[in-house]
Amino acid sequence: MSETAATSTKATPAVSPFIFVVCQNGAEAATKQEILAHHPNLKLSFSRPGFITFKVDPEKPLPLRFTLKSTLARTYGWSTSKLKSENADELIDQLLETEHFDAASRVHLWQRDLTLPGKNGFEPGVSELAKAIGSQIDAKSKRTDQVNQYAAADDLVFDIIMVEPDQWWLGFHYAVTPAGRWPGGAPMLEVTKEVFSRAYFKLKEALLWSGIKIKPADVCAEIGSAPGGACQFLLEHDCEVIGIDSAEMEDEILANPKFTHIRRRSFEVKKKDFKPVDWLVADMNLDPGGTLETVASICGYEGVRLKGMVLTLKMSDWSYVPKISEMIKQVRELGFQVVKTRQLAFNRREFCLVAIKNKITLRKTKR
Ligand SMILES: C[S@@+](CC[C@H](N)C(=O)[O-])C[C@H]1O[C@@H](n2cnc3c(N)ncnc32)[C@H](O)[C@@H]1O
Repeated sequence: MSETAATSTKATPAVSPFIFVVCQNGAEAATKQEILAHHPNLKLSFSRPGFITFKVDPEKPLPLRFTLKSTLARTYGWSTSKLKSENADELIDQLLETEHFDAASRVHLWQRDLTLPGKNGFEPGVSELAKAIGSQIDAKSKRTDQVNQYAAADDLVFDIIMVEPDQWWLGFHYAVTPAGRWPGGAPMLEVTKEVFSRAYFKLKEALLWSGIKIKPADVCAEIGSAPGGACQFLLEHDCEVIGIDSAEMEDEILANPKFTHIRRRSFEVKKKDFKPVDWLVADMNLDPGGTLETVASICGYEGVRLKGMVLTLKMSDWSYVPKISEMIKQVRELGFQVVKTRQLAFNRREFCLVAIKNKITLRKTKR
């Protein structure tokens, strides 16, 4: 546990009859379907875009530190109560009286996503409204830390979800997953940074979530690299970068001596060009089958020795979600020991699949 109000010896919270799940705005139906398919002990309760609650079958309870088998769930926890008032001061006063508010290691407060990430400048994370309310809470609370600090592994997090500005749902979770350490399951990235595309943030989140640490001088190839957000991120990390795309890359990327542009489509590239590659990134406008076929042909080529892959798999519709387990199996069969999927907070209608050849690499690089 972190050095905060956390050191309190107050009893840990008990499980509640309900859990909450946060997902991308618009992904509710697919998320419900995915979760119910894997967790028949849950029953749908309340739902708003980006926010769902489920009732847990008391005969088949979940453990206190539960995890869900879901690609679309951004984060989740126990749903305990809700506060309603049009007066923020009143809400804060009620909040400060709530059990476990003082004892939790961290307090996370966020608004459900109001639209699709990337639409009209919207980005996931702690909104301006949530920041302002967080400061008001800090000013009134006895806690020694501030609202919305990252949690450490296994910290008890007190959750405040602003489902509406005047309707706050309260809950808690233990930070047993990497995304469980971030407010609302979204890493707090500097989204005002000038980037060539949002792929910069997607790749950054993918690495934070998966624990992959790409080292300087690693050779990274990206298929579907234009205009160059992900390459910008990799070049900032001093990698040798090969961008594969028939479309134009940004001039600044092309001017970087550590960058090589193969101005072709994936199937026109000679497989031997992938021999020096450590990490393969793919972000093509293809359906998941097309991307997986492309990377399978690269992995199967003699002399290609990838450490891992970070794939963005595009979903023209949600019918791909029930097929994700099969996709994971397909990638495992290519010889990757760890294969994980998640719809990143910064993803749009797509999800991320990471594959790691040898799990020891991951342990060595864990932050
Ligand atoms: C979402 S954009 C990629 C964004 C990019 N990753 C970035 O960081 O800016 C998709 C790209 O995939 C490229 N693409 C589509 N099919 C491809 C293929 N078969 N081989 C290589 N690139 C492809 C398109 O030209 C397009 O530039």
